[in-house]
Amino acid sequence: MDPYKYRPSSAHNTQYWTTNSGSPVWNNNSSLTVGARGPILLEDYHLIEKIAQFDRERIPERVVHARGASAKGFFEVTHSVSHLSCADFLRAPGVQTPVIVRFSTVIHERGSPETLRDPRGFAVKFYTREGNFDLVGNNFPVFFVRDGMKFPDMVHALKPNPKSHIQEIWRILDFFSHHPESLHMFTFLFDDVGIPQDYRHMDGSGVNTYTLINKEGKSHYVKFHWRPTCGVKCLLDDEAVVVGGKNHSHATKDLYDAIAAGNYPEWKLYIQTIDPDHEDRFDFDPLDVTKTWPEDILPLQPVGRLVLNKNIDNFFAENEQLAFCPAIVVPGIHYSDDKLLQTRIFSYADTQRHRLGPNYLMLPANAPKCAHHNNHHEGFMNFLHRDEEVNYFPSRYDPARHAESFPIPSAILTGRREKTVIEKENNFKQPGERYRSWDAERQERYIHRWVESLSDPRVTHEIRSIWLSYWSQCDRSLGQKLATRLNIKPSM
Ligand code: HEM
Repeated sequence: MDPYKYRPSSAHNTQYWTTNSGSPVWNNNSSLTVGARGPILLEDYHLIEKIAQFDRERIPERVVHARGASAKGFFEVTHSVSHLSCADFLRAPGVQTPVIVRFSTVIHERGSPETLRDPRGFAVKFYTREGNFDLVGNNFPVFFVRDGMKFPDMVHALKPNPKSHIQEIWRILDFFSHHPESLHMFTFLFDDVGIPQDYRHMDGSGVNTYTLINKEGKSHYVKFHWRPTCGVKCLLDDEAVVVGGKNHSHATKDLYDAIAAGNYPEWKLYIQTIDPDHEDRFDFDPLDVTKTWPEDILPLQPVGRLVLNKNIDNFFAENEQLAFCPAIVVPGIHYSDDKLLQTRIFSYADTQRHRLGPNYLMLPANAPKCAHHNNHHEGFMNFLHRDEEVNYFPSRYDPARHAESFPIPSAILTGRREKTVIEKENNFKQPGERYRSWDAERQERYIHRWVESLSDPRVTHEIRSIWLSYWSQCDRSLGQKLATRLNIKPSM
């Protein structure tokens, strides 16, 4: 038997038990008491250290996406995209980059069931030679709202009622009745794909519009899409009840077991691109996160494949402490002016400074795997050993210099200060098209879920009528069917 198999691999192992500071522990079973039956002495440092450490084992859970599973593997370029991006990790077919991926549900707590109707997170950290690239996406290609200003209210409406701590549909339908831009997202959430079978059988999408830039400085807007090679599979509502009733961690287990058995999950990465000079040619704004880009006019272009072939060694280190951020990009990939993305650029690093501390990027799962250097230093839990005397820049004593410059989008930005909405709202067309693309049974299941939700006794007549009007504007027959089932007149 390997004597170290059950020991932390990172510690300097001793043959005997010690305190955190390394002093020998001769008894790890009994507290130090006055006599055999007397009170415990405060000087039992080992006991106090052990209990205090235990008391602090949990860190704050993610404010959203608290429940998740992660795995490691690689990304391999299969098709050249160097005409679109100068990103080093995309430089040529065959190039592989290590990755860690975290799948998640969104709304409920860290221990909640994985069978709930909810979007799924699909976050990929590429450890490239030019630093990390975090593609922090979801399984659906669109989002509920267009402006980050609405995100906290949106999450509050979707989260449990602050009084009862129960997720309640009347609060959700109330909030979103003010936001017809959410209709498209609801055609995913209330569709069969609203409960993926597990994490291996679902699509992924970067959702937001990013920018690719080639070495000549030419930009293209881009959307990223993951497609599982084993196909998309979902759970119908009653199947989800059975699966979740048996095991509330079924998707985590499925991912872990598949990888342990050598049945490695794989996704293909595709992109869609738009030349920013052509951004006005569409009936939607390419920076509107509630829209998909039609594949018939903006075809999917293959880029590479993602293979997950290694389970994580430690859930806390590689899941709880794993921290993604859409602001973490590499040369050749930039943001766009997508309002939602712009807010996300701030939000993630901010929440992690709160959740994990200011040095969260030093944690092994989050640190780049390439050489890196700057003078940001000190702060809570800084465990880097540094011995330099020059911690400022520039200096004639320190040879560290700027990296070579790389292109960033060069479009001229002008405009008045304003708080406004995206002009081409076009809220009803794409949800209607999506509904009409389904067969009759799928449409029926969709209608059934809406009838059930709109029948909640706390949904008022006004809110019900607004939703009917919205769905009628997406598709007249959908509105009529809902009106008949709910026994009300469509008000459009
Ligand atoms: C302005 C809009 C948004 C804000 C302010 C926001 C904020 C957040 C925050 C604070 C977290 C917790 C991060 C952590 O503690 O590690 C998070 C997680 C996450 N968000 Fe967002 N989010 C927004 C929109 C989106 C969108 C559009 C997507 C999909 C593209 C998305 C996907 C994710 C994913 C996948 C995670 C979990 C990452 C992980 O596995 O650790 N979010 N978001």
